[in-house]
Amino acid sequence: MDPVKFGIVGCGSAAVFHVLPFKGKADAKLRFVAAHDIDEKSVTRFSKRYKLIPLHSLDELLHSDIDAVLLAVPHHLHAPLTKAAAEAGKHVLCEKPMATTLEDCDAMIAACKKNGVKLMVAENHRFLPAHRLIKETIERGLIGEVFLGRAYEGAFCPSQQFLDPDLWNFTLDKAGGGVVADQGCHKFATLNWFLGEVDSAQCWLGKAVNSPPNKGEDNAIILLRYKSGAMITVDVSSVTVHPLTNRLELHGTKGTILEDHSWEKPVQIFSSHKEAETKGQFYSPVVEHGVYPKYYTISARHEDTHFAECIIEDRPPEFTPEAAKEAVAVTLLAYLSAKKGAATKMDELRDIQKSKGTMSILDGLENVIQKNHEGMSWD
Ligand SMILES: NC(=O)c1ccc[n+]([C@@H]2O[C@H](COP(=O)([O-])OP(=O)(O)OC[C@H]3O[C@@H](n4cnc5c(N)ncnc54)[C@H](O)[C@@H]3O)[C@@H](O)[C@H]2O)c1
Repeated sequence: MDPVKFGIVGCGSAAVFHVLPFKGKADAKLRFVAAHDIDEKSVTRFSKRYKLIPLHSLDELLHSDIDAVLLAVPHHLHAPLTKAAAEAGKHVLCEKPMATTLEDCDAMIAACKKNGVKLMVAENHRFLPAHRLIKETIERGLIGEVFLGRAYEGAFCPSQQFLDPDLWNFTLDKAGGGVVADQGCHKFATLNWFLGEVDSAQCWLGKAVNSPPNKGEDNAIILLRYKSGAMITVDVSSVTVHPLTNRLELHGTKGTILEDHSWEKPVQIFSSHKEAETKGQFYSPVVEHGVYPKYYTISARHEDTHFAECIIEDRPPEFTPEAAKEAVAVTLLAYLSAKKGAATKMDELRDIQKSKGTMSILDGLENVIQKNHEGMSWD
């Protein structure tokens, strides 16, 4: 079958790492053919650079000869644009996080089902070869039952994303919160895949940068208790001073996994299992990887190819919209816990969805963000 033809909505930073791995690859399962952005300059510049057809109206893109759309737009637009694309009969690959509320996630799933199109959230961490190796290692029983762990994602994002109140990034209304919504979602999608369902969470939110009140936290610690009993600390920050990286440490009854995306060999395993490749010391299996920013394009290539194959072969994506929704649920549970100042059960979040709606969790969140920046200097 011919490659799946994609149109891009939103020509910002995320769109670039989707397009790059397929540039000049005639044998790829997909082709990015057209692009649209509400910002005329962005679409013109982006389309020229990546040889796409620039389309200045969404309608024109959705009624063009494409099979699927990649949505790479601010988070509050994921739900309405998914609905519009589904109604136009286009499959939808939507950037993470799925949406800002559980209700929007449900609406996206319903719209795609109703219109018979596929929906996948572009959670690149689910397609990172290093993470697939960790999943396989856990499934092989090499570290036994996981009881303890910690996960970290940190990066110093461009400061205007925090300081400019008119940019959508990290805002409570357009991004659905700060770094927990933006980066925590990667951790939650990955940890849920490894460990199952979250039972409860406790979260603290902080601002190390004195950003405007419409911006959410730039630092957070979230303690997660999984239904399996595993206890995990998740630290996320958008203001730590080092190149972007992710780390993970998982301890089980038979061993330990260490991961750091800034290592050339990103995964180290220590296992007492009889089938372990090496015993008595950490070992690092060979896995496709490159330190930041390479792992972005590697994961995007696997992710987008997988979605294209699902369209060609008419099968459901491995990363289901329901799993993507669960990552949003953990974000909202963390925020609910920060507001309550107490460990909070997932059941309470489900009850809120049924009563006043999960949008209510973001109301007044700014008031519970600790102001770490007072007395600090970033000069
Ligand atoms: N997987 C990752 O690691 C990763 C990294 C960065 C961003 N992202 C995600 O990608 C998405 C976009 O983020 P970004 O960093 O590219 O943002 P960005 O601000 O760089 O780009 C967003 C683009 O969307 C355009 N836009 C806004 N409203 C629009 C509309 N109604 N119609 C069409 N275009 C519109 C903007 O003009 C802008 O060009 C977000 O969901 C973000 O979380 C994912």
